[in-house]
Amino acid sequence: MRIAISTGGGDAPGLNAVIRAVVLSAVHRGWECVGIRRGFGSLLGESELMPLGPQEVRGITHLGGTILGTSNRGNPLKWRVQRPDGTWDERDRTQELLDSFRAHRLDAMVAIGGEGTLGIVLHLWKRGLPVVGVPKTVDNDVGGTVTTFGFDSAVSTATDAIDKLHSTAESHERVMVVEVMGRHAGFIALNSGIAGSADVILIPEIPFDIDKVCDKIRRREAEGRHFSMVVVAEGAVPKGGTVSLIHPAHERLGGIAEKVAHSIEQMTGKETRSLVLGHLQRGGGPTTFDRMLALRFGAAAVRLVAERQFGMMVALQPPSIVAVPLEEALAAPRRVPLDSDSIATARDLGISFGD
Ligand code: F6P
Repeated sequence: MRIAISTGGGDAPGLNAVIRAVVLSAVHRGWECVGIRRGFGSLLGESELMPLGPQEVRGITHLGGTILGTSNRGNPLKWRVQRPDGTWDERDRTQELLDSFRAHRLDAMVAIGGEGTLGIVLHLWKRGLPVVGVPKTVDNDVGGTVTTFGFDSAVSTATDAIDKLHSTAESHERVMVVEVMGRHAGFIALNSGIAGSADVILIPEIPFDIDKVCDKIRRREAEGRHFSMVVVAEGAVPKGGTVSLIHPAHERLGGIAEKVAHSIEQMTGKETRSLVLGHLQRGGGPTTFDRMLALRFGAAAVRLVAERQFGMMVALQPPSIVAVPLEEALAAPRRVPLDSDSIATARDLGISFGD
């Protein structure tokens, strides 16, 4: 058995731990592994496959990033090619990828990715590729699994940043508005906001009213709390408004913290600063939780290959790692459930969602 491993989409802490678990679990069965570089790049003529044995995966469990490289611009279904006049064309390279998979004498693929990559993987499986998916993303927005690996590490980084911002906010009696990742899901904002004792948390699932946000800050002021911490998810939307985009063509979210900070300063007269945590949340090594989850996912993916359970995704349904059909996992993106215990906890703690 020759297994190809790919990492696609935005990176997340824990990718290398999955790669290591897949390689060691395969080698223990007497199988061989190769890495596909930069998403699906090596199967589309961009580079050579990377031989992966115990030596290549030694000491990488704790390392951030991915030794295979990744890309969120290499969709084989919609491959972008620039025309001589500078405009872009899209080509479907599915057949070329499938032919290349066979030409390289590969028997199975373990594809590690988020919603976007797993959607590509589902399409490839329907076209005959024997593939198992592993859910990765800091956003935690993949269905079928209680959590993705990478999320806990991102939340931990964001919480640490909020802790640090508290002292400077308090010293200067300012409002700090911190923008965190998550795309259209508010999990990072919600968890880091609660753990970091934010006063206001704005998430995409609860459109906010800036007047309510300012009311909370004024109430704190009246109680003698002269600083406030606002955590805003990059995909948060004002009531009746739209998401804030930095790059509309690529649907890159961003800029909401600055807008919220500007409104707070105008409406409350409080000095306000904003910052965007950005890719810091994707950097660095995985937390212990993410290492464990990534290693368990990688080993479970090889067990599925052994059972020839293709078209499936490994998933955490505590206390077990289970197999979920990719189709089922991707049927609906995961969002913060409004009736969740975390939302109730935040409200009980007096945190405002601006609603
Ligand atoms: O999906 C992961 C993620 O980090 C999102 O939270 C964020 O919106 C996006 O990727 C950023 O992508 P890029 O790496 O292209 O800036």
